[in-house]
Amino acid sequence: MQTRQIGTRTVSALGLGGMPMSVREENDPERAEATIRAALDAGVTLIDTADAYSRDEKEFGHNEVLIAEVLRRVGVGADDVLVATKGGHTRHGTDWELDGSREHLHRACRASLERLGVDSIGLYQHHRPDPAVPYAETMGALKELYDEGLVQAAGISNADPDQIREAHSVLGDALVSVQNQLSPIFRSSRPEVELCEELGLAFLAWSPLGGMSGASDLGGSAKPFAEVAEKHGVSPQQVALAWELAMSPAVVPIPGASRPESVRDSFRAVDLRLDEDDLAALDVS
Ligand SMILES: NC(=O)c1ccc[n+]([C@@H]2O[C@H](COP(=O)([O-])OP(=O)(O)OC[C@H]3O[C@@H](n4cnc5c(N)ncnc54)[C@H](OP(=O)(O)O)[C@@H]3O)[C@@H](O)[C@H]2O)c1
Repeated sequence: MQTRQIGTRTVSALGLGGMPMSVREENDPERAEATIRAALDAGVTLIDTADAYSRDEKEFGHNEVLIAEVLRRVGVGADDVLVATKGGHTRHGTDWELDGSREHLHRACRASLERLGVDSIGLYQHHRPDPAVPYAETMGALKELYDEGLVQAAGISNADPDQIREAHSVLGDALVSVQNQLSPIFRSSRPEVELCEELGLAFLAWSPLGGMSGASDLGGSAKPFAEVAEKHGVSPQQVALAWELAMSPAVVPIPGASRPESVRDSFRAVDLRLDEDDLAALDVS
């Protein structure tokens, strides 16, 4: 089975994205637990979450609590599964807002520690640059959390190449990952993938199937993926994930799921090898 390196941690080449279990109008806790259990059974050792993954402001922290409770019930600890959470988004009602201030990040990290029930977060990612706050200030706060031992490794998300370099200069070896969008319908992330390779960072690919509403048809880009899928007797979603894995050893797709069937199907992509003809058909250069 393919694995990936995130800083000093070796994890499954595919992670589980937690968002779909907490943001839908109707959340189903039993199905969510079955989904997380199916992921663990399949060999997933990376779960991505965020403090802001909830239906609204009232349920802020929903996904972190859900994941922590299920891992506790299953008896899986922080050494077995890397739980990667994020801070930097706020919720007002159902709106998503930003706060990249030092004070907010310190508060948010401590609240995440409590919800996850740990003394130190395995991977703490800054969710999205806040245009109202200099990025260096936000990165400085992340470094303080690392220096205090509250987080074992730092990540950033939705960052462009200049921001990745700025984060790297502030955080040094504490920075281990960049989480940006990458999928069959969102292919413009290659410069960030290459920069991650150059700097030795993992590139966590978010919405790798085209997003919660687009995953069933890969955001409308399904045709070549369906053809390669038919050749291998697998789903087009597996082909999309294997295509992303083939792009670079830095790439770690984190497909979201709220059903065990989705996780079981997606995770088979770690063993799917695409040949040159397949990759040419999918237009990987
Ligand atoms: N950093 C950021 O700003 C950011 C932004 C967005 C997302 N994320 C992270 O990235 C993760 C993934 O993104 P996403 O959830 O938005 O989109 P996605 O992974 O592209 O799509 C998620 C949807 O794909 C479906 N799915 C999964 N595997 C499938 C399969 N094998 N066959 C058919 N359908 C399948 C799931 O359906 P079911 O729900 O029915 O199982 C799920 O709702 C999120 O969960 C979150 O952790 C981060």
